[in-house]
Amino acid sequence: MRIGILNSGGDCPGLNAVIHGVVGAAAKLGWEVIGFRDGFEGLLPPGDYQKLDPEDTVGILKLGGTILGTTNKSHFAAKIGVSDPVEAIEAVTVKAKRTMEQLEIRALIVVGGEGSLSTALHLYQAGFPIIGVPKTIDNDLQATAMTFGFDSAVSCVVDALDRLHTTAVSHKRVMVVEVMGRHAGWIALWGGIAGGANVILMPEIPFSLEKVAEHIKAREAKGHHSTMIVVAEGATIPGGQLVTKEAHEGEVRLGGIGELIATEIADRTGKETRTCTLGHLQRGGEPTSLDRILGARFGVKAVKLAEEGNFGRMVSYQAYHVSSVPIEEAVNHLRSVDPEGEVVETARAIGICMGD
Ligand code: F6P
Repeated sequence: MRIGILNSGGDCPGLNAVIHGVVGAAAKLGWEVIGFRDGFEGLLPPGDYQKLDPEDTVGILKLGGTILGTTNKSHFAAKIGVSDPVEAIEAVTVKAKRTMEQLEIRALIVVGGEGSLSTALHLYQAGFPIIGVPKTIDNDLQATAMTFGFDSAVSCVVDALDRLHTTAVSHKRVMVVEVMGRHAGWIALWGGIAGGANVILMPEIPFSLEKVAEHIKAREAKGHHSTMIVVAEGATIPGGQLVTKEAHEGEVRLGGIGELIATEIADRTGKETRTCTLGHLQRGGEPTSLDRILGARFGVKAVKLAEEGNFGRMVSYQAYHVSSVPIEEAVNHLRSVDPEGEVVETARAIGICMGD
């Protein structure tokens, strides 16, 4: 039997651990594994792929990125010359079927985030033997309690905060650190707590810049002359709060949310303020041990599902156990931070200002 695997969407530490798990478990069953390169693009005829034997995966467990490469939806849409993403999925389905048949692929493991899993679901509904593996550093998929890559991203934030604390203290500055999280504040919350942030701002909790400024002034009064603010990239400033935007138009480059907050806070507190956007640093580098283990477990479970003929399902981590759910559950169901939840409560209890 021959099975295929591809990664799709943004890369994520732990992807190679999944490949390692898939190849190892498949070899035990005497199966052959074909790794498609650059996401769904690898499925386009004549197919861009490589055979993956256990020897090919030696040493990859600890590598960041993915040995197979990955692309996002707009990339493959452009590649096949279709601008509409829905039409692109239709087109890829037809073309991919030929590749699957020619190579006699009996199961296709798709490792991807919400967008890629919706493509995977479409393929499954078109008759492909699909198994999904969830992937996102943002940890915002409802259908799994945790995704690999998240812990590595949080570690990156913590490392950055540890470094930024010392320079912030030396200069008595406010440091605004913008972290990833388009829809949810998981990285900001976990990274902020573990890295000793004083303020955490995220999409789930509407915040007031005045409250943040008051918090900074109160810290000043107590002799704490530096403040570390962590903000998720998806956080938005509730309307009517911007006093500086107009005043600084043309003078200040209003970039991401971090830069905007830094400008506003400087105006309200008179404090020297700096911004640091961590960006793709959070997606690069070696996976943590937790992400290596989770990735490997997800890969092994995906092969198990293939062995059982359990297609249309996605591997899922629930209560210390790797199980599976229908892929539908992962699509259009994002998981936000609960503003009343225990982790936010913990942040508040240890004195972190959530800006509200
Ligand atoms: O979904 C993960 C994520 O890391 C987001 O937090 C971020 O906005 C996005 O990917 C960046 O994607 P790209 O690599 O396409 O710029």
